[in-house]
Amino acid sequence: MTRPNEVEARAEALVSRMTLPEKAAQMMQVPYSTVTREEALAWARLGAGSFLHVLGDDARELQAAALSTRLSIPLLFGIDAIHGHGLNENATIFPSQLAAACSFDRALVQAMGRATAREVATDGLHWTFSPVLCLGRDTRWGRIDETFGEDPYLAGEMGAAVIRGYQGDSLGADDSILACAKHYIGYGEAVGARDACDTEMTYRKLREVFLPPFEKAVRAGCATAMTAYGSIDSTPFTACEKVLRGILKEELGFDGILVTDWDNVQALVTRQFAAANIGEASRMAAEAGNDMVMTSLGFYEAAIALVEKGLLDERVIDDAVRRILRIKLRMGLFEKPEKKGVPGCFACEEHLSICEALARESVVLLKNNGALPLNDIKSVAVIGPNADDIRAQYGDWTYFSHPLPDPAREPKRPYATVLEGVRELADESGMRVSYAHGCGILDGSEAELEEAVLAAQNCDAVVLVLGDTLDQHGEGKDRADLALSSAQLTLFRRLRALKKPLAVVLVASKPLCAAEVAQGADALLCAFNGGMFGGRAVAEAVFGRLNPSGKLPISFPRHSGQLPVYYNYLPGWHGGKYMDLPETPLFAFGEGLSYTRYEYSNLTFDTKTFLAAVDVKNAGGMDGTETVQVYFRDLVSSILTPVKQLIAFERVFLKAGDTKRVAFSLCKDDFSLVTPDERRVTEPGDFVLMVGASSKDEDLLNVTFTL
Ligand code: GLC
Repeated sequence: MTRPNEVEARAEALVSRMTLPEKAAQMMQVPYSTVTREEALAWARLGAGSFLHVLGDDARELQAAALSTRLSIPLLFGIDAIHGHGLNENATIFPSQLAAACSFDRALVQAMGRATAREVATDGLHWTFSPVLCLGRDTRWGRIDETFGEDPYLAGEMGAAVIRGYQGDSLGADDSILACAKHYIGYGEAVGARDACDTEMTYRKLREVFLPPFEKAVRAGCATAMTAYGSIDSTPFTACEKVLRGILKEELGFDGILVTDWDNVQALVTRQFAAANIGEASRMAAEAGNDMVMTSLGFYEAAIALVEKGLLDERVIDDAVRRILRIKLRMGLFEKPEKKGVPGCFACEEHLSICEALARESVVLLKNNGALPLNDIKSVAVIGPNADDIRAQYGDWTYFSHPLPDPAREPKRPYATVLEGVRELADESGMRVSYAHGCGILDGSEAELEEAVLAAQNCDAVVLVLGDTLDQHGEGKDRADLALSSAQLTLFRRLRALKKPLAVVLVASKPLCAAEVAQGADALLCAFNGGMFGGRAVAEAVFGRLNPSGKLPISFPRHSGQLPVYYNYLPGWHGGKYMDLPETPLFAFGEGLSYTRYEYSNLTFDTKTFLAAVDVKNAGGMDGTETVQVYFRDLVSSILTPVKQLIAFERVFLKAGDTKRVAFSLCKDDFSLVTPDERRVTEPGDFVLMVGASSKDEDLLNVTFTL
């Protein structure tokens, strides 16, 4: 492991020895999936800095070619390990970020990062393009599953935790990999949730809403970041010096590698029409502060020509290359170009148990009229398009979907769908289990429908698993309408008409518009893409082996026309609701029920010490874990501020009958806003602190105070 001041000296010495072509090549990140093997080797021999989406022996061959060059600068290999090292079928496939965020469990999310790092490093790779720190505020966006939900505080806490997991105590460790804070910034805020479109964002809003998770990532020492597609008020992020060099590098002090997203530089020409040619685009991207260029291979020759013609200051190139070399030196790559990882750790017991624990904490109970947990029944019908579909359960960024979609790919064990989870538990209790597909996600047949109704008629209770599929989400797959298909609704109505206990489970990538199902079901569980054991966790919840503790990291809209519908909205709506919709979301941020009951009392807040405390009692008959949430509102502010904002949370385990006093150490900055001239300040005046089980007013105790 190279010491900091030695790193600077070695990086400087190397930059001064490099030719301009070698420096330009070092800024290139080459996509192995779209070039031939010969082209890839040629890039490695030219001195490329990095490749993405290359595994195993192919990577070793490229590294050997790079090390045979004049300066033997080792390659960095990057990959999308978004919820586990999912592009490798032998890896542990964890719950998606959105599912993991339902746990509100910093330690377990960090453990997911640690396990993922071990598996990525064991593949000889150095870098994951994760975490996504975008906020999921308009669920029509195709990539909601990759976010930690709608809230800046939660996304920042989860992001910092998984970065600590990925990077461990030292980048030079055999099982540590580089994390990547992405997509910088505000990518999910595109108008109409249209992927990569303009955000119409102001710098004030950027700093108040979207920057906090990246600030936490930089404070956590995140080694890389990725420039988002899209634009801020019509300036492409790729070409925005204020956002990249100004705010991220100079203000936040980010000293790692800023890599563009896929083909961002070329996109300035071909998608955003903000540059006439690759030469202009390359100059804009380099001067704005991008250090590495993903897949826009024309940048290489363009950058050399620009410097030679005096159109681009070579010091801009030098700064980018210095940052790349600094990370490679801090990783110890010059001494050990290939990560060793932990041989044999793929899907090992330790990793699988972390995966299972996170799946259990990701299950959210949204409704229960007493039908759950299912006990004293002799038979259960498990029905629905996502009851036994591991692809739907995994969601995006696994070997089914990347680097290229492969519907024929055979799933690799171990995993458990909902049906398989129910069957495992039923075997223990002798319960009879019937299964029927019932319909597809988008369409169905009379025969399948009747078969499902018959199966349900012959059972004591029904578990109906609905949701979405891989075809309906992911990059470039935004939806205008989040309603369940008529096939799914017809199946629900027919089963509801049987008047048997009916528990509906949504196995989906994001909140769907399921108001009729929420209204009619006896119980409703939300299981965002739960990974290998998501199905078993649902089954354990249905039969009461697990007391659900998940809380929603994102609001459920009643109707697509209600979007965006996040909890931390600004006041001022005349009428406060649409004429044809209630003003509240179907389910609120922070909401999640339990089989037991928690009671909150005795909230105190000391404005001298900024210490808040509240008593939480488990007043029911079952042990459980509650996530206590702390919100605030600035009652009068010089600009509009949200009706409430999350500023702290803690998971608390409570045995039945127990009471614990939960304390939160806050600070004055927690109550701040960003002024129109972009300063973060805490204004004097009256505030209210709210503590409780969700963001819903009826779930919160509050205390007013003055600063
Ligand atoms: C994609 C995604 C980004 C990913 C990158 C490499 O287009 O936007 O999240 O890391 O390309 O696969």
